[in-house]
Amino acid sequence: MQTPIIDYINLLLETVGEDSGEVASYIPELARADPDRLAIAMATLDGEVYVAGDCDVEFTIQSISKPFTYALAIADQGLDVVLKHIDVEPSGDAFNEISLDPVTGKPRNPMINAGAIASHALVRGDDAEARVERILELYGRLAGRPLTIAEDVFESELSEADRNMALAYMLRTAGTLDGDPTDVVRGYTRQCSVSVTVRDLARMASVLAAGGRTPNGDQVIDSDVNRQVLSVMATCGMYDSAGDWLTSVGIPAKSGVAGGLMGVLPGQVGIAVFSPRLDAHGNSSRGVRLFERMNRDLGLHLMAGPETSSSVSRRIERDGATVHEIMGDLHFSEGEQVLRVFAKEPPGDTPVIVDLDRVHRANDIARRSVLEGIRRLNLDGHDVRIVDPWGVLGTAETGTGELVRGEQARGGYVPASYPDVESALRG
Ligand code: DON
Repeated sequence: MQTPIIDYINLLLETVGEDSGEVASYIPELARADPDRLAIAMATLDGEVYVAGDCDVEFTIQSISKPFTYALAIADQGLDVVLKHIDVEPSGDAFNEISLDPVTGKPRNPMINAGAIASHALVRGDDAEARVERILELYGRLAGRPLTIAEDVFESELSEADRNMALAYMLRTAGTLDGDPTDVVRGYTRQCSVSVTVRDLARMASVLAAGGRTPNGDQVIDSDVNRQVLSVMATCGMYDSAGDWLTSVGIPAKSGVAGGLMGVLPGQVGIAVFSPRLDAHGNSSRGVRLFERMNRDLGLHLMAGPETSSSVSRRIERDGATVHEIMGDLHFSEGEQVLRVFAKEPPGDTPVIVDLDRVHRANDIARRSVLEGIRRLNLDGHDVRIVDPWGVLGTAETGTGELVRGEQARGGYVPASYPDVESALRG
C-alpha cells in the first residue's frame, strides 16, 4: 500500500491553482529564480519525510534562518541578555523597516531584519566567519545533513546590502550592537544565503515541533529556548501579516524571500513549502494558500481546542482492593480528572492500586497532581500501591524528574511500586 499522505500532498500541489506576485528582485540573484518551482515536504517527529514537487531544488533559506539563529543567540548569551537587546513584540511593519521601538530603543522582534541582525551579532564568535561556522553547524544538525552557502546569492545580496547596513549602523548608534556593523551584516547575509531544500526545512521544522529534539533523540535546542523561538514565530514570523496568518492557519511559521515557508505544529509535524513568487508582505503567495488549505484539511490550527480525553480513569473493586486504571497521555486537565476521582474515594484502610500501565506520558503538572493525589489518599488511611511500568511518575523527560522525586520525599510518602496489578494485589 502507498500511504495516502503522499497522494494528498501531490494533490495539494496539483490543485493550488494560479500563482500571483513576483519573485524578490532587490537581491539580483533571486530575480533569476524560476518562478514556477513548487515543492512541499512534511516531516514527522520520528524522522519520516513526505515530499512532492521540486523537492530537491535548492534555494536560499533567507529569513527562515532567523528563528534558528535567535535560538543560538539565546543558547550563547542566555535569554535575559538577548531580551536586553531585542524585544518580542509584533511590529506590524515590513520585514526590512528601518525602525526601533521608540520607548525601549530596541528592535521590536528577532524576525524582522533589525532584530535578526542583532541576534546574529549575539552569536558567539570573533568575526563573521566564526559566527557563521557555528550557525552552519547548528543548521546542519537540525537538517540532518551538512549545509553550505550559495556564494552567488551571498555576493549578490552583499553588493546591494545598503538597507541592512543602515539597520546595523542604527543598532550600533542605539547601543544594541556591539560588533562592527560591516562584519555583522556580512555574517547575517551569509546566514541568509545557506542553501536548503524543502526536505531540509521540513526536517528543521520538525525539530522545533519536537521541542528541540532531532528524530535521533539529540536535544539540539534546549526545550525552553525552543518554546521562546516558537512563540516569537507565532506572533512575528509572518511580519505585517502575522495576525492574518495566526487566525487563518494558526501555527508558528517563518517565511523567506527566496520563496520558502516553514510551519511548525508543536508535538506533531514540521512542514515546508517552496514557491518563489511573493505576496505584498514578502511571503510566498502559493505557500500561504497551501498552508491555509492544509489547516482546513488537517486541522492544524493551534487554537482549535484539542479535545481532552473523557475516559481518563476507571475505578474497579477487586479482591478487597480498589484499582484505579488510568489511561492516555496526561496533562493538567487529565491530572485534574484523576484528582477528582481520587477525591471521591472514601477514607479507610483498603488498599488502593493506581495502575498507570496504560499511561505513556505525563507532563510535569500531571505527574505532580497524581503524586499529590497519592499522598493524600495515604493521609486518608489507604495503603497506596502504584503500578508504573513505564516510569511516568518518576522519569524525567525534561529534567524535572529530580523535582518530582524531591517533592515526593518532602511529602514524606513514597508509595510501594509493583510491576503489575496482580503483584500489587498480593501486596
Ligand atoms: O535581509 C534580507 O533582506 C534577506 N536576506 C532576508 C529577508 C527575508 O527573507 C524576508 N522574508 N520574507
